[in-house]
Amino acid sequence: MRTSRSTTTTRTFRAPGIPLRKRIAALLTGAVSVAALVGAGATTAHAADTPLRDLAAAQGKVIGTAVTGSKLTGAYGDIAGAQFSSLTPGNAMKWGTVEPTQGSFNWSEADQIVAFAQAHHQQVRGHTLVWHNQNPNWLTNGSWTPAQLSSLLQNHITTEVTRYKGKIAAWDVVNEAFNEDGTYRPTLWYDNLGADYIANALTWAHAADPAAKLYINDYNVEGVNAKSTALYNLVKSLKQRGVPIDGVGLQAHLILGQVPATLQQNIQRFADLGVDVAITELDVRMQLPATAASLTQQKADFKSVVGACAAVTRCVNVTVWGFTDSDSWVPSTFPGYGAATPYDENYNPKPAYYGIAEALGGGTSTPPPPPGGACTATYSVSSQWNDGFTGQVRIACSGASLSSWKVSWSYGAGQRITQAWNAVCTQSGAVVTCQNASYNGTVPDGGAVTFGFNASWSGSNPVPTVTLG
Ligand code: G3I
Repeated sequence: MRTSRSTTTTRTFRAPGIPLRKRIAALLTGAVSVAALVGAGATTAHAADTPLRDLAAAQGKVIGTAVTGSKLTGAYGDIAGAQFSSLTPGNAMKWGTVEPTQGSFNWSEADQIVAFAQAHHQQVRGHTLVWHNQNPNWLTNGSWTPAQLSSLLQNHITTEVTRYKGKIAAWDVVNEAFNEDGTYRPTLWYDNLGADYIANALTWAHAADPAAKLYINDYNVEGVNAKSTALYNLVKSLKQRGVPIDGVGLQAHLILGQVPATLQQNIQRFADLGVDVAITELDVRMQLPATAASLTQQKADFKSVVGACAAVTRCVNVTVWGFTDSDSWVPSTFPGYGAATPYDENYNPKPAYYGIAEALGGGTSTPPPPPGGACTATYSVSSQWNDGFTGQVRIACSGASLSSWKVSWSYGAGQRITQAWNAVCTQSGAVVTCQNASYNGTVPDGGAVTFGFNASWSGSNPVPTVTLG
């Protein structure tokens, strides 16, 4: 049995960083479907509306997000463009994506992201040229001599870096080269080419685009530990050998409440070697459903990571690995965990967003209550078995009240409601609509009503976006 996910929709639209003009346009065109303005009235811009990218720029920093090219429209595109000064393709530049068949290239998503970034005056971090994951089958299943493999790698790096020459601020040239104990990870590359595949990759990338900053990137290297010390020693030796290495990427896929105490010290020791540092893939995962306490802790965690970077001059970029919980790798990789990014699935900023803003000098400590208050509908799954699950929706009001309510959502994977209690629910195709029962239509200011349901599922059970009203 898994306990899991939740999603929240409020009736008052507040999405910092999409300029007010764009928010209204989005509402008018229906581009943002998650919220509806009600009698409470539209929110006005407030201090935290200063986009993260402007706050970062004032600190001499760049703030980035990983993105999926196909999503760069509507509210997702608006937020990506307005809030961030750097984009990293989450998957689009990986070898398996760009050359799925040997000699046959697909640059479409990568090109799209680069074009979007240029249109929005954003940097691009290229990710990633040499990795042991997401390589094409023809490469991993092939039988190659070391000389052939070296030549394939050189060609790959030269082709990709040349294609985007002048358009990429920094490349994650080598990704995840180390084991946790600081020994080299056995991979296609290390096993066949030895440790010098790293120096060679950097040298080839530099030849193709001398202006791009070249990074080595890894996870679990945020604090001072055996793995980060191995990385430190590698960078030191590469520098001594004159190999072109410009930076170190600390991925920072963190667990709630577990920001390493030595993060800033670790950033500083790399900076002292004469390289830049970037936080390249920041997210903070938590057990679902998220609670007010866990979201508050997450805010502190984001603030402390961004603050550590802000405190070190050579820490140049903090990139979040997806800005919205609807576009995060976490739930599928760590079942029962999620809510790892600064915006929820409905593009509402979470406390974590304000943690980032505060660390970058933004003045607002918490989102101000929307004028007139708001009522919120939160969907969650409390238990799930092989073909069914139990879920509930909680409708809560703060600074507002309801005398009746109706919520609706659309199931994306064929789920069917089989039974509901404390609400009258109907399902037509994918669309579920639930109205209050005769006895629970009133939700007072400061109060809440919850209804439950059983439903069937198969294949997958994604959390839908719930609309209240
Ligand atoms: O595109 C296919 C789709 O056609 C198919 O229907 C679907 C079915 O599973 O899979 C889709 O591909 C998925 C791909 O993401 C795009 O969504 C892959 O299965 C999935 O494995 C892949 O996961 C990516 C993961 O790297 C792979 O290791 C994540 O999106 C991506 O965020 C993640 O990023 C890595 C960094 O590159 C390196 N550091 C760790 C980080 C998190 O794992």
